[in-house]
Amino acid sequence: MSYKKRDKFVITGGKKLDGELDIQTSKNATLPIMSACLLSKDAVCIKSCPDILDVENMIKILKKLGAKVYRVLDDLIIDGSQIKDVCIDYNLCKTMRSSIFLLGSILARFKSICITMPGGCNIGKRPIDIHIDAFKRLGVKVIEMNDFIFFNASKAKAGKIHLKIPSVGATENIVQFASILKGKTVIYNAACEPEVVDLCNFLIKMGANIKGAGTKKITIIGVENLKGVEYRPIQDRIVLGTLLIATAICGGIIRLKASNINQIEKLIEILSRMGCQINIKNDIITLAREGPLKSISTVSTGYYPDFPTDLQSMLLVLSCVVDGSTQINERIFENRFLIVKELKKMGAKIKIVDKHKVIIDGVKTLTASKLKALDLRGGASLVLAGLVAKGTTIIDNVHFIDRGYCYFEKMLTSLGADIKRI
Ligand code: UD1
Repeated sequence: MSYKKRDKFVITGGKKLDGELDIQTSKNATLPIMSACLLSKDAVCIKSCPDILDVENMIKILKKLGAKVYRVLDDLIIDGSQIKDVCIDYNLCKTMRSSIFLLGSILARFKSICITMPGGCNIGKRPIDIHIDAFKRLGVKVIEMNDFIFFNASKAKAGKIHLKIPSVGATENIVQFASILKGKTVIYNAACEPEVVDLCNFLIKMGANIKGAGTKKITIIGVENLKGVEYRPIQDRIVLGTLLIATAICGGIIRLKASNINQIEKLIEILSRMGCQINIKNDIITLAREGPLKSISTVSTGYYPDFPTDLQSMLLVLSCVVDGSTQINERIFENRFLIVKELKKMGAKIKIVDKHKVIIDGVKTLTASKLKALDLRGGASLVLAGLVAKGTTIIDNVHFIDRGYCYFEKMLTSLGADIKRI
């Protein structure tokens, strides 16, 4: 990805969206899969690896550890046969929360790892206590010292783990770790997100013995070795959802191609109830929006298959421009209304009730403004607000959006939007 830290988006609002797009590969599926590549001594090929900043940062981390990583057109080849370091680079750890996924694979293969408390999006506390507790249950020794955490798995044993919250990252870490740990490990209250299932499918292709992915109980029987494979991760349901909501906001008609449309059922139900016309045929979803939309009174985020927290801020922007009022309950993170301050500059009527609840009264139009992205999904949502606002909106800190959207401005330009990167 070629980008500069100080890139901005300049958007002239008011254009309807019209066109067709194939959806990029999922960020949240690709990142844990990149980590899981290190479980094998063979090279692995990730097909259609997305060209986004988080992948680029993960490549930097893997290279620092001694892995060889090559891009061949759209594919990424990761060869972890020569890994020599088990300390994750301090600065890279801080820039990207997904560095936490490396715990599972490195610890499984090399029996020790040193990390720093990971950074990432500014959307909440995001502790890693559930990851640490789960590893401890499997006999891993954990020593926390200042900002560093040392893990040693030389005495680790398979066993049963009950997660107090169905954490996506903790489930993905334990699945990786247990896939080459001798014996049977069972995860209760596991996360059921499609990205967890995709990681398991990848590991199964490599030779792992995993049952129950996509349910609350995942059973893993450790195998000796995992082999190198070619794998195409699922498409990005959050990018898919973002573009559907963008069209609901701007009006127009779009056709999007993805083989996992069934993974955004909740969003499709909400958009239909608001008045969008949606048609699904095989792997093509068509959304048309002509007249005004009406609010659906309440939306709550939740664990899959509930409405995803990663689409909450886009829905918040949509709620700003529909008839009626909407209550949004954010039940996963505690700091996910960062965009409210920015949207108010545009004339949106939003009341923050508490850190988990907002009430939005729809207005006729938003007015262009100078805005700042503060996190990945919130940043993408501000772009959607700019697309519908009267006048020219400037969005700063575009690098947050580049973490997960593969040239967002190009996607939107191809659909007829007026957006430029400067
Ligand atoms: C993943 C996704 C992120 C998505 C989130 C929820 C990736 C790279 N990121 O993040 O886009 O928004 O799932 O669907 O896949 N928690 C703890 N202690 C822990 C771990 C989590 O308290 O040790 C809490 C978190 O603060 C949060 C909740 O559990 O409130 C869910 O977090 P989790 O499912 O772990 O999210 P991530 O894996 O970080």
